[in-house]
Amino acid sequence: MGDSLQGQRVVVIGGTSGIGFGVASAAKEAGASVVVASSRKEKVEAAVARLGPGAQGAVIDTGSEDDVASAFAELGAFDHLVYTAGNWDGRPTDMWDLEAGQWIFRIRFWGALRAIKHARQSISSSGSITLTSGVAAHKPRPGNTVTSAGAAAIENLARGLAVDLAPIRVNCVSPGYILTEALEGLEDAIRPMTARQPVARMGEPGEIAQAYLYFMRGTYTTGTVAIVDGGQVLR
Ligand SMILES: NC(=O)c1ccc[n+]([C@@H]2O[C@H](COP(=O)([O-])OP(=O)(O)OC[C@H]3O[C@@H](n4cnc5c(N)ncnc54)[C@H](OP(=O)(O)O)[C@@H]3O)[C@@H](O)[C@H]2O)c1
Repeated sequence: MGDSLQGQRVVVIGGTSGIGFGVASAAKEAGASVVVASSRKEKVEAAVARLGPGAQGAVIDTGSEDDVASAFAELGAFDHLVYTAGNWDGRPTDMWDLEAGQWIFRIRFWGALRAIKHARQSISSSGSITLTSGVAAHKPRPGNTVTSAGAAAIENLARGLAVDLAPIRVNCVSPGYILTEALEGLEDAIRPMTARQPVARMGEPGEIAQAYLYFMRGTYTTGTVAIVDGGQVLR
C-alpha cells in the first residue's frame, strides 16, 4: 500500500464543495488525476478552477438516472469513486413529516446507488468506492431519527456492495461535525456539542479527507466504516 496515487483517476461526486472538495484536493496532492462532479455547472467550474491545472469537472445531478447514465458513459475508465453528494434543502423540521423525511434518502442513498449502477463498469477491478454517511448513524440525537436511519442505511449499502461488487472494494466514511460551506454560520449553535468531544472542535475537510484516501489505498479494506468525529460518539 503505497502513499502515492500517481497514475490513478479519482471521481468525486459532491466534489465541488465541503468534504468532497477536501477529498479532491488531497487526492490531487497525492498525485491522482481528479474529476469533481455535482449538479450545478457554476459550482463545477469554480471547483475546477480552484483545483488548478489537470483537474476535470462534470455536471451530474444524481437525482436523475438519465443524467448519471450519460455522464458516466462520457467519463470513461477510472480507479476510485467517492460519493459525498448531499443536498440540504428540504430537510424536515418535524420528524413525523414522513413525506419530507424521504429527503435524506433521495440524493444521499438513492443518488449514491444510481451513480454506482452506472459507474461500476468503468471502475478498475483494483479500485474502490467510498460512500458518506454521518455520525448520526451511531449516535441519534433527539428528533433526528430519520436522518440517523438514513445514515445507517448508507453504511449498510457499503457493506452489501462490498459483497456484490467484489473485487472492487466498497467502504464508507461517517463524519462528525465538519466545517464545510453547508455548516457555515452555524458554528455558534454547534459549539456546545463539539465542546463535549475529546477533540473539542469541528473538523476540517482536509482532516476527514485522509479517511477517504486511506480507503483508496487500503487494498485489504472493504465493507467497513471509518467514524471521523473527534470522538463525538463517546460523549
Ligand atoms: N459537514 C458535516 O458536518 C457532515 C456531517 C455528517 C455527514 N455529512 C455528510 O457529508 C456529505 C457532504 O457534506 P458537506 O458538508 O461537504 O456538504 P456540501 O459542502 O454542501 O457539499 C455537498 C456537495 O453535494 C453536491 N450535491 C448536492 N446535490 C447534488 C445532486 N443532486 N447531485 C450531485 N451533487 C449534488 C453539492 O454541489 P451542487 O450544489 O452543485 O449539486 C456539493 O458539491 C453530505 O451527504 C452530508 O450528509 C456532513
